[in-house]
Amino acid sequence: MENMLHLAPSLARVPDCFIIPPDQLPPATTGVVSLPVIDMSGSHDEVCRAILDAGKEYGFFQVVNHGVPEQVMQDMEAVCAEFYRLPAADKAHLYSEDKTKPNRLFSGTTYNTGGDKYWMDCLRLACPVTVGDAGDATSDGWPDKPRRLREVFERFVAQSRGVGMQVLRLLCDAAGLRADYFDGELSRGDAILGVNHYPPCPDPAATLGLPPHCDRNLITLLVTGPVHGLEVLHAGEWVKVQHVPGAFVVNFGLQLEVVTNGMLKSVEHRVMTNAALPRTAVALFICPTEDCVVGPAEELVGDGGTPCYRALRFDEFKRIYATVKLGSALNLTTNLKNNQKADNIM
Ligand code: OGA
Ligand code: NI
Repeated sequence: MENMLHLAPSLARVPDCFIIPPDQLPPATTGVVSLPVIDMSGSHDEVCRAILDAGKEYGFFQVVNHGVPEQVMQDMEAVCAEFYRLPAADKAHLYSEDKTKPNRLFSGTTYNTGGDKYWMDCLRLACPVTVGDAGDATSDGWPDKPRRLREVFERFVAQSRGVGMQVLRLLCDAAGLRADYFDGELSRGDAILGVNHYPPCPDPAATLGLPPHCDRNLITLLVTGPVHGLEVLHAGEWVKVQHVPGAFVVNFGLQLEVVTNGMLKSVEHRVMTNAALPRTAVALFICPTEDCVVGPAEELVGDGGTPCYRALRFDEFKRIYATVKLGSALNLTTNLKNNQKADNIM
């Protein structure tokens, strides 16, 4: 628990384990690139095309008019802030460094980093897909404070998962897959809710909140709040993501890259720290079931085409891609192809 950054007295200096060598921390290009902002209330065909274009060009986009009530978003933001303000004693039982625990509070990333540390605290909760329907039996092990946390989180998860599933259906239409392609075990694993909290950091130029990584799940929805931090790799440069109030940032996970046989890419992103303001971002990771075998869709490989990825069980995939190494995170995706091409067993 003493590792938790948000509970530590403010530090004058960042401990060495957080310092990232300058050659591994290329600055973002100046200026903020606005990711494509897609109005979900547009016509079906327009939205389909916009999602496919943005997905191919950036792998990241924002959606507005997504139908999740403003109150649900505001309650989520408020309860997350309340949670991190709770006294340490109310959170101590949630703290765990055991990566196999589905519900826990910890500091740093879930990836193996070989001892490097990142400037982030995280509350990570497993959300069975029935959340919201089956009452609190499904959310055992979730925090019991603040009192309204369960209710607010469950509503947020159910609603934002709905947006993710809608995006997937539109993508199917745009890409030539049947509309319910992702509705089964590809999206039926426990969704993971991550409440990422980045306290102000005394040395933002030498630290990262999250290392460059691709999400390993199917698709991710993010609510980033107004404080800057998220950067996306685009055309070889890091670009800052502009905050659009009320929007979800949507990005593709590696499982979607595999299913689409590389037509859609899971794009690397990272989180910068800042000295002035705490930042909180909420991520919902939609995931396949653990035993779901994920491989390229036949419809997208085509007759006589070559699958660019091996089919792997999702739990096996996560085990193989458990390590993030700064400066080489792109290999997360390329390895998969190279290994496949070289016919190696990973
Ligand atoms: C993540 C992630 C971005 C953020 O949790 O995988 O990329 O802004 N988060 O916290
Ligand atoms: Ni991510």
